[in-house]
Amino acid sequence: MNCTTKQVMSLPADTIPKLAYAISGKERKLSSVAEVTIFRIIQEALSNIMRHAEAKLATVSLKYSPSFVSVLVQDDGCGFSVPVTFGGFVSGRKLGLAGIRERVKLLNGSFIINASIGNGTSIRIKVKC
Ligand SMILES: Nc1ncnc2c1ncn2[C@@H]1O[C@H](COP(=O)(O)OP(=O)(O)O)[C@@H](O)[C@H]1O
Ligand SMILES: [Mg+2]
Repeated sequence: MNCTTKQVMSLPADTIPKLAYAISGKERKLSSVAEVTIFRIIQEALSNIMRHAEAKLATVSLKYSPSFVSVLVQDDGCGFSVPVTFGGFVSGRKLGLAGIRERVKLLNGSFIINASIGNGTSIRIKVKC
């Protein structure tokens, strides 16, 4: 069964990809709100990769700058068609990406998701902290 068929049938893919991570910039202690926000976002993004992406490789990159932190979570899996708004996901009780967007909004940050079918997915967030 291919990835798209699994998605259509809403079966979890549960594929565990190789995980690579990189930290750049000068690590520093963040506020507990920022810390929890970033942790939850990475957790949800990796959970999505395991459940939906059928990826071979997942990469988490964390970059510390003096006044903000940016996070990029990428995979080389099946990708998906990103809706203009997450309304359809929310009404279908898919709250992960909408939750990420809300958490980032609370910190006045930015959230960019790029995905296309067959070409993997990347989630990029940047929060002031
Ligand atoms: N890394 C990914 N690769 C492929 N599809 C993804 C990925 N992340 C999210 N998706 C798609 O976006 C949908 C919405 O994700 P999310 O809001 O986290 O809800 P849920 O994980 O509960 O289905 C998923 O059902 C899936 O179709
Ligand atoms: Mg999810």
